[in-house]
Amino acid sequence: MDALKTNVLYYGDNLEILRKYIPDNSIDLVYLDPPFNSKKDYNILFKENGGVESEAQIKAFTDTWHWTQSAENTYYDIVTNGPLKISQLIGALHDAIGQNDVMAYLVMMTTRLIELHRVLKLTGALYLHCDPTASHYLKLVLDQIFGPANFRNEIVWRRSHPKGHAFTRFASNHDIILTYAKDAGRVIWNPQYIPHGLENIKKQYTLIDPDGRLYQLTSLLNPNPDRPNLTYEFKGVTRVWRWTKERMLEEDAKGRIVVPRDGKGIPRYKRYLDEQEGIPVDDFWADIELVVGNERLGYETQKPLPLLERIIQASSNEGDVVLDPFCGCGTALVAAQKLNRCWIGIDITHLAITLMRNRLRDSFPSIQFEVIGEPVDLASAKALARQDRYQFQWWALGLIKARPLGEKKKGADKGIDGVIQFIDDPTGKPKRAVVQVKSGHVGVNAIRELKAVAAHDALGIFITLESPTGPMQTEAVGAGFYHSPGWNKDYPKIQILTIEELLHGKAVDMPPQTQTSVTFAKAPKISKKEGEQLSMGRQKFNIGDRVIGNDKKASFRERPGTVIGYHRPTNEYLVHFDDGMEEYVNPGWLDPENL
Ligand SMILES: C[S@@+](CC[C@H](N)C(=O)[O-])C[C@H]1O[C@@H](n2cnc3c(N)ncnc32)[C@H](O)[C@@H]1O
Repeated sequence: MDALKTNVLYYGDNLEILRKYIPDNSIDLVYLDPPFNSKKDYNILFKENGGVESEAQIKAFTDTWHWTQSAENTYYDIVTNGPLKISQLIGALHDAIGQNDVMAYLVMMTTRLIELHRVLKLTGALYLHCDPTASHYLKLVLDQIFGPANFRNEIVWRRSHPKGHAFTRFASNHDIILTYAKDAGRVIWNPQYIPHGLENIKKQYTLIDPDGRLYQLTSLLNPNPDRPNLTYEFKGVTRVWRWTKERMLEEDAKGRIVVPRDGKGIPRYKRYLDEQEGIPVDDFWADIELVVGNERLGYETQKPLPLLERIIQASSNEGDVVLDPFCGCGTALVAAQKLNRCWIGIDITHLAITLMRNRLRDSFPSIQFEVIGEPVDLASAKALARQDRYQFQWWALGLIKARPLGEKKKGADKGIDGVIQFIDDPTGKPKRAVVQVKSGHVGVNAIRELKAVAAHDALGIFITLESPTGPMQTEAVGAGFYHSPGWNKDYPKIQILTIEELLHGKAVDMPPQTQTSVTFAKAPKISKKEGEQLSMGRQKFNIGDRVIGNDKKASFRERPGTVIGYHRPTNEYLVHFDDGMEEYVNPGWLDPENL
C-alpha cells in the first residue's frame, strides 16, 4: 500500500477504498454518519435562485441495505474469517434477527468498522453518528471491535426540530453519537467548553473587585475527611483543606483567599470569571442547531458545521488526519480544513463528490485537494457509463458544473438531464443552459430534440461519450446564436461537447459563471482558524477597559460600556454596557472608547 495521501476525496465504496488506500494506524480521528437503515431515499433538493427549493429532486442513494447475495457473502466472510468475538456476536445476532434488512445493515457496518479500527492510530478515536433505531445494535458491534473498556461516550445530540408527530408517542428529537478510543489510555482529548450564560453568571459571580473583575467565593474544604497531611490550622480554622499549607500560603499572598463574616468565617477561594474556560461540555448537546441559513446546501442529511467542529477540536490536534468514510456533502472535511487538520473523504456517489468539490472551493477559495476514483480518460468514462448510467450522468454534469435535474421532471424539462443557471442582464432574472448527457449511440435526431427542448432557454448543451456525426454538427450550427445583453456577445445556441474534449479542458462557451452562476447553493466563505499559538495571548482588551460597540447592525452599536469578563475559548468579551445591557461580544465589534 502506498503512503497515506491527505486532502483527498475518494469516489467509491468505502470498504474498497479503505482496504486499497488507507494504511494501518494512520488516522487520528474517524467521524462517520452512515445511512441509518431508515428505508428512505436521499433526495437532494436544490435551491432555485432566490432560495426557493426546486421541484427537481434527485434520488442519490437508497439508504437501505437488503439481504442480498452481497450481504450473505459479507456475513459468511465475517463469521468464517473475522476475529472470534466478532464472528460469535454476528452469528448470534443473525440467529436472533434473521436474514433481513437490519441484519444486512449490521453486517455491512461491521465489516467497515473492522477496517476503521485498523486504520486508527493508537491515540485515535472514532465517532459513529446514528439514531436510536440502530444505536443499540451498533454499540454491541463496537464493543466487540474496540473492547468495552475503550467506550468513551454516548452523546445525545438534540436536533431541535422533532421528527414526526407527538400524537401517538413522544416526538423523536435526537441522534446518538457513539464514541470509542482505539486505546482509552492514550487517546487525544481536548476538553471543550461553552460560555457561561449571562443568567448563570448573574447567579454565580455576584461579587466584583474594584477593578471590575467578577468573582465568586468557592470552598477550600476537602471532601475527603481522611487526609492527615492536608489537615492543619489556617487563619485560626483547623480543617481538612484542598491544598497543602504551602500552596494555601502562596494563594493567600496573591490575595486570593477571603475570610468571610469579617474574618470570622471559614476561608474561601476567590474564583474569577475571566479565568474560567466556561462550562465543560457534557454528553448531552442541546446547543447545536440543525443546519440553518446559507450553510444549507440542499443535502438532506447535511450535519451542522459546529457539531463537527466540536468533535474535531475535542479529539484531534492541528495537523492531524480526520477521515469521513460516508462524507455526503462534506461537513467533516470543511470543519477539518477550517481547523487546520488534514482530511480524507469517501463517498459512493458522484453527486456527493461534485457537491463537496464545489463546497470546498466556495468555502476556501485557495484550497488544494485531489479527487481520486473519477474517470480520468475516455476508457474509464466508458467503464463508468457501463457500470451505472446515473453515476455517469452526475459525473459528466459535474464536469461543466451543471446541476442534475433528477427523475421527476415536469413538462418541457422532460428531455433535460441538467441545467446551468446564470445571470447576464440587469434584471437579475436567471437564464438557463439546459444540458443533455448521452452515453450511448447518438444521431442527428438527438440534436433536433435538444433544439426543441432548449427553444425557450438561452443555450442547449449536448454532452456525448461517442463522437458526434457530421449531420449532428451541421444541425447544431444551424441553430444560430444566443445574444447575451450583459456581455454584449453571441454564444452558439446549441453546443456539442464530447467527454474526451471535456477531459482535455474544453468548456461550455457561455457567459462567465464565476460571478453569475446560481446553479448550486453556494457555501459561504470560511476563514481558517488562526494557529493555536497565535490565538493565545492576543487579548485586545483588559478587564475594566472602556469600549464602544462599532458594528453598524448590532444592538450595541455606538453604545459605551466596560469590559467585565473574557471568555478564552471563543475569544469574546463580556461587556457591561452603560445602559445596563450585558453581552458577550466579539473583539472585532468593539473599539476602545476614546479612539
Ligand atoms: C448520511 S449521509 C452523510 C452526510 C454527511 N455527514 C454531511 O454532513 O453531509 C451518508 C452518505 O454516505 C454515502 N454512502 C453510503 N454508502 C456508502 C459506501 N458504501 N461508501 C461510501 N459512501 C457511502 C451516501 O452516498 C451519503 O452521501
